[in-house]
Amino acid sequence: MRVGILGSGLMGGKLGTIWARAGHEVVFSYARSEQKLQKLARDAKGKARAGTPREAAQQADAVLLAVHWSRVDDVLKQAGDLSGKVIVTCSLPMSADDTALVIAHTSSGAEELAKKVPKARVVSAFGTVPSEVLFGVFEARRKATKPSLVYCGDDASSKKIAAQLIRDVGFDPVDAGPLRIARYMEPFTLLIAQLAYEGKGGPELAYRFERFGK
Ligand SMILES: NC(=O)c1ccc[n+]([C@@H]2O[C@H](COP(=O)([O-])OP(=O)(O)OC[C@H]3O[C@@H](n4cnc5c(N)ncnc54)[C@H](OP(=O)(O)O)[C@@H]3O)[C@@H](O)[C@H]2O)c1
Repeated sequence: MRVGILGSGLMGGKLGTIWARAGHEVVFSYARSEQKLQKLARDAKGKARAGTPREAAQQADAVLLAVHWSRVDDVLKQAGDLSGKVIVTCSLPMSADDTALVIAHTSSGAEELAKKVPKARVVSAFGTVPSEVLFGVFEARRKATKPSLVYCGDDASSKKIAAQLIRDVGFDPVDAGPLRIARYMEPFTLLIAQLAYEGKGGPELAYRFERFGK
């Protein structure tokens, strides 16, 4: 797949690196320094390059939106026409000081994003895990027991693409349903963040759902 990274920070930098190592063509974009994007592309060692948000989005089969909520409008503007594109978003609608969700309960960041780009197909994924765990999950990807990763969206074919990208990182994708379920996923992330950053044992934390009974 061709994957465009919009926001090459902790999440975008690591996920793009992992996808390049998994064999995808990755374009890293949207950081404050071009050198950083070029270094990410070099270090990823696969088919990765640095580009503008427009270049990252243009040819992409999927784009990852991984910017602070306050940068969403700017990066979307720079990306240009996203009609028909699969947008996988891990961006949470956090306040400027990252202490609270500014959208919740009656909507979600993912739903508000879908309103901003109504012709794109938005899937919410990856926002429920800390960036610190991503490389560890990738390294453990051949183990039988994998951590879960919830995702949701309204379009079946784009959810398939997202599920593949989730598997490629080493998670077991858990389809949580339509995009409005992001209303529950986004606050769940604050619990995960509490455990990761305030709990014992460090931030390399993932989660796993298990079913019992028939
Ligand atoms: N970090 C996590 O563990 C985590 C987990 C779940 C969800 N999330 C969500 O994922 C999203 C991304 O988080 P993150 O931690 O990856 O953020 P981050 O590390 O701050 O990355 C954001 C990217 O946007 C770039 N950027 C910011 N302002 C810019 C500007 N004015 N012009 C160009 N580029 C600019 C940054 O550039 P620089 O590289 O130059 O700084 C960086 O590459 C957020 O919505 C966050 O809530 C994060």
